Amino acid sequence: MRILAIESSCDETAAAVIEDGRKVLSNVVNSQIAEHAKYGGVVPEIASRRHAENIVKVVDSALKDAGMTAEELDAIAVTYAPGLIGALLVGVNFAKGLAAALGKPLIPVHHLRGHIAANYLAYPELEPPFLCLVASGGHTHIIQVKSYTEFETIARTRDDATGEAFDKAARALGFSYPGGVNLEKAAKNGEIGKYKLPIPKVEGSELDFSFSGLKTAVINIIHRAEQKNEEIDVNSLAAEFQDVATEILSDHIKKAIELTGAEKIVAAGGVCANGMLRERLEKTCNGLGRTLYIPPLRFCGDNAAMIGAQAYYEYLAGKSADMSLNAFATMDISER
Ligand code: KG4
Ligand code: ZN
Repeated sequence: MRILAIESSCDETAAAVIEDGRKVLSNVVNSQIAEHAKYGGVVPEIASRRHAENIVKVVDSALKDAGMTAEELDAIAVTYAPGLIGALLVGVNFAKGLAAALGKPLIPVHHLRGHIAANYLAYPELEPPFLCLVASGGHTHIIQVKSYTEFETIARTRDDATGEAFDKAARALGFSYPGGVNLEKAAKNGEIGKYKLPIPKVEGSELDFSFSGLKTAVINIIHRAEQKNEEIDVNSLAAEFQDVATEILSDHIKKAIELTGAEKIVAAGGVCANGMLRERLEKTCNGLGRTLYIPPLRFCGDNAAMIGAQAYYEYLAGKSADMSLNAFATMDISER
């Protein structure tokens, strides 16, 4: 089954053709990063406009790269939640139009389910059940993936998502957008231990996360230094932030493995592009005799290939939509 997938939940206009949930026939990503960088973050109104301008071109390229015509497709999939509502609607409306014109099934896909499914593209042998860490710009969860379409969230952030904290700390440190990747680059030239940052405590749960205190501590150090007219070693503060943030994620995954006894561990979401996090998760899982599955860098950030992978399993489980399909800014991963 060959599915054309469309993703437009944030600042990437993306389309891909995926065969049977596992094989990438094409994967086109048009990033708007350069334009949003001028404003220090994603401007939702600009994102929607650019999606509308680019979507035809991106879908055309995905079909061309796959060597297919639209008529040869078996279904159209689209990210319908969660994300920037105006941005999502561009993809959803386009997908509806295409599905109606071609008379093909329309498959709505949850964005975070897509991030998890990125691993199906990279690891043909990977099948649920498994334990999954999702760390993106908007979400930080530990999820029991019981089947391809059944999810139970066992931990979540109480405040900022990891990626959001990376982006806010990066901005305070004066790094340009996108913050996470630029903070990682700066940290390579810094020294861990020069600054002290707290590990935030979360009441009532061993596994839930909190990242806003960590981000605020970075901002406070910068403000105090400014008041005293002291220089900040931004690289070392970045290195300390990255060290603590990635330690929190790997520590919680370790606890979750011990609590659940999970054998297979999966990581997903944009923050998984971070080298220190990748190393730490690998070490944690190896230390406990577990196998870690983490997407290659090209599938960590937003893309449509991951949406096409998940769409196949949604379709097999009986999920499809009609022309009343809407987009939703928020939606729990376990909702059907
Ligand atoms: O999954 P994603 O592409 O989009 C969402 O669904 O949110 O994640 C984007 C997030 C951003 O916050 C970005 O700063 C972060 O992932 N990120 C990173 C790195 N690359 C992307 N964070 C830390 N280190 C990186 N190398
Ligand atoms: Zn994403």
